[in-house]
Amino acid sequence: MVNKCKIINLPKITDPRGNLTFIEGGKHIDFDIKRVYYLYDVPGGAERGGHAHKELQQLIIAIAGSFDIVLDDGYKKKRFHLNRSYYGLYICPMVWRELENFSSGSVCMVLASILYDESDYYRDYEDFLMSVRS
Ligand code: TYD
Repeated sequence: MVNKCKIINLPKITDPRGNLTFIEGGKHIDFDIKRVYYLYDVPGGAERGGHAHKELQQLIIAIAGSFDIVLDDGYKKKRFHLNRSYYGLYICPMVWRELENFSSGSVCMVLASILYDESDYYRDYEDFLMSVRS
């Protein structure tokens, strides 16, 4: 599963007035965007994530600043460093994620394939492991 998660290089229109990046659902990412949320004002040393999802697919973008995402499918772990507004990390279902090392002023934007649904979460790592290994 971790091998299906990858950095997507998004379009970048460079312009002396400022650069522009856009994302079209079903084109730059394989899913239709049902929800957008963002993390900001993250205090130094804080960690986010700490869960996996049954169905949810996501594209995570460091809109400002940088942070690390550690993905874990129960067998293999992979660390990604996001530090460009035109890179998106695609995360497929059934992957545990931890977000850490947020730089000051960073903003993490998430495009999500389904609406918020607490029953889609694995919040307990042991439950997640049992589920992927069964
Ligand atoms: P959570 O997904 O655990 O945050 P993160 O993975 O970014 O650390 O969500 C934190 C809280 O916010 C939790 O109480 C659920 C709520 N929440 C919503 O109500 N809607 C949403 O779309 C999201 C992502 C979270």
